[in-house]
Amino acid sequence: MTEGYGTPQNGNPITTTTAGAPAPSDEQSLSVGRDGPIVLHDIYLIEKMAQFNRERVPERVVHAKGAGAYGVFRTTNDVSEYTCADVFQPGRETPMLARFSTVAGEQGSPDTWRDPRGFALKFYTRDGNYDLVGNNTPVFFMRDPQKFQDFIRSQKRDPRTGLRDNTMQWDYWSLSPESAHQVTWLMGDRGIPRTWRNMDGFSSHTYMWVNAAGRRVWVKYHFLTDQGNEFLTQDEADALAGEDADHHRRDLYAAIDRGEYPSWTLKVQVMPLEEAADYRFNPFDLTKVWPHGDYPLIEVGRMTLNRVPEDFFIHVEQAAFEPSNLVPGVGPSPDKMLLARMFSYADTHRYRIGVNYNELPPNRPQVPVRSYSKDGRMRFYPPETGAVYHPNSYGGPDAAVQEGTDPASWTVHAGEIVREAYTAHRDDDDFVQPRALIRDVLDDAARDRLVSNIAGHIGAVTDDKVAERALEYWRKIDRETGDRVADALRGG
Ligand code: HEM
Repeated sequence: MTEGYGTPQNGNPITTTTAGAPAPSDEQSLSVGRDGPIVLHDIYLIEKMAQFNRERVPERVVHAKGAGAYGVFRTTNDVSEYTCADVFQPGRETPMLARFSTVAGEQGSPDTWRDPRGFALKFYTRDGNYDLVGNNTPVFFMRDPQKFQDFIRSQKRDPRTGLRDNTMQWDYWSLSPESAHQVTWLMGDRGIPRTWRNMDGFSSHTYMWVNAAGRRVWVKYHFLTDQGNEFLTQDEADALAGEDADHHRRDLYAAIDRGEYPSWTLKVQVMPLEEAADYRFNPFDLTKVWPHGDYPLIEVGRMTLNRVPEDFFIHVEQAAFEPSNLVPGVGPSPDKMLLARMFSYADTHRYRIGVNYNELPPNRPQVPVRSYSKDGRMRFYPPETGAVYHPNSYGGPDAAVQEGTDPASWTVHAGEIVREAYTAHRDDDDFVQPRALIRDVLDDAARDRLVSNIAGHIGAVTDDKVAERALEYWRKIDRETGDRVADALRGG
């Protein structure tokens, strides 16, 4: 095969084109005489340039900066009274992929910017892929998906200057009181974890669990770090942003390479379906938690990350997490944010990495795929259906649930189709839970850091009316905190 091309003198294997033919040179282009023009039929040069020009797929529109690792989830407790999901059956071990990220930053941005952290998980279960695409905070900035795009634009770069802009951030937040709980988390210690290994992960949303008898409950997931929660101070984070923008990625991969496999214990809160209507907080409002006194944590199992992917682009950049990847035993809830996300992610994957993204290595289920969908760009696998249409006479697969009540569903009382906020529950108020977080959960030192972080952040706001409104927002959350931030801003 290599005759006529000689053999590299050092005994290394021969470079090939992407079609596997021996490459003519790693160094010289084909030219007309030594000093003449290069020629178009140097197909190897053309291939290298063309391939290079197409190396990038668009980065994720949010959560662009991150990294991921493979691992395993082991169910240690018996929660089969709540769910028949295969992944959560006692003793089951399920391979999985996790990806951690910041939200607003681009691919090269520092890992230590103050931001929520993505906590995206893909379980390769015996019933197909199950994804939990959460954050390191149990709540979010809004409760209606209509606001998500505007919110993200306020956190990303100013279109005129290309700079991130604290004025836009506080303008949005202070005009959106429902953001108060998440912003309190963000400005506190949890806003910059020391490493990804030192942070918790949450489903944030309420989901449904269904057991083998068809009994349904509402559930919230908490992945509690076994390494302990640790944070970076603003000063430490600022220094690291310059010294090592990839601090969190490096830490994760170095720990796994050392054999120090990070792990998280999964606990859930379970709410009987019938308690939702009268619970003091709307249980589907993504800006609220369920206090543990109301719904205690129940242990489920442990996830351990133990393998750095062999190729970052293939396994991390092409990873496609989507809240719509649900399996029997788990379902969505009436959380409007979750329902919108069930459209958004598969849609963005089709755009970003192509319609057949589920055939890519990190996304390919570890069970037979018998889908009647076919063709499209970059298709690798023939449909395992025998026929390409349904119904057919040739033994093609039939769907498992054909008609009747959807197992993971709830009753919706028919009404007018409206554009309105959720019905308020007894204690629903945008400031009650962040106030409790500041007063009852943080200690004095953490409250001091919170005030200093907020003041530092508002200090960069260039519009006085926005800064003033931001102070009012904090006074509504907690008068003392608001007053202390105002003092700090005056240099007190
Ligand atoms: C990524 C949309 C709310 C967690 C993304 C992406 C989109 C998106 C388009 C990029 C996905 C990709 O290219 O792979 C939305 C919309 C939301 C929403 C429309 C609300 C209506 C949330 C919430 C959470 C969350 C509430 C957490 C509880 C994440 C995570 C990623 C992500 C972790 C990164 C996934 C990865 O590592 O690949 N989101 N998002 N998002 N989102 Fe959301």
